[in-house]
Amino acid sequence: MPVVIRPFELGDSEAFHLALSDAEDLHLLTTTFERPWTVCDVRSYVSRAQDEAIAKTAFRYGVFDAGDPSMPVGFAELHGLDWIHRRGSVGIALWQPAARGKGHGSLALQWLLNLGFRRLGLHRLQATVFETNKPSLKLFENSGFRREGILKEYAFVEGGFLDVVLLARLAVGSSNTTPAST
Ligand SMILES: CC(C)(COP(=O)(O)OP(=O)(O)OC[C@H]1O[C@@H](n2cnc3c(N)ncnc32)[C@H](O)[C@@H]1OP(=O)(O)O)[C@@H](O)C(=O)NCCC(=O)NCCS
Repeated sequence: MPVVIRPFELGDSEAFHLALSDAEDLHLLTTTFERPWTVCDVRSYVSRAQDEAIAKTAFRYGVFDAGDPSMPVGFAELHGLDWIHRRGSVGIALWQPAARGKGHGSLALQWLLNLGFRRLGLHRLQATVFETNKPSLKLFENSGFRREGILKEYAFVEGGFLDVVLLARLAVGSSNTTPAST
């Protein structure tokens, strides 16, 4: 199943809501993701994402099944963009286990690296990943992200605080970087 990455549009809201209501493992996201979302919540998210793109504070995209381009299978985003320090954070999730382990996450990450470093001229991209989330750690380390430290008890999940790994990749030309191959 090849995938297409594009901005969400308001017309995607029903399909987005449907896909999200079946999503699994959203607790793996280290940012807050309150559930369940209503269609109204999804529409607000999409219109907020459009405003954020105009303001250049975040770029949030859907990952769509190329065989059924109206059906989102996940999201890929750059958020928390800071233009003074030219840095931002990366978030990726494929909502269903059936969509994972097929290279879509790697493709989405390469796409975001290209957007962040080449098109937007950012200097640093970072990600936060639970220590136990092996696929996600592998995904980022395969793409040149380095572990910078552990954020102790950073996230509250299912009744307990969990440690999270902070990973980052710097743009080409920086003193502490893996050359970008995007
Ligand atoms: C993390 C995630 C985005 C990775 O995307 P993906 O499409 O499944 O990953 P890919 O198929 O591109 O594989 C990336 C690497 O992870 C490895 N990997 C994939 N699934 C794995 C698993 N279950 N266990 C161990 N490694 C795994 C792959 O082998 C690959 O490494 P390799 O090329 O060296 O073999 C996806 O699994 C996901 O959405 N998971 C749930 C939500 C989540 O954890 N999001 C990230 C929060 S920080």
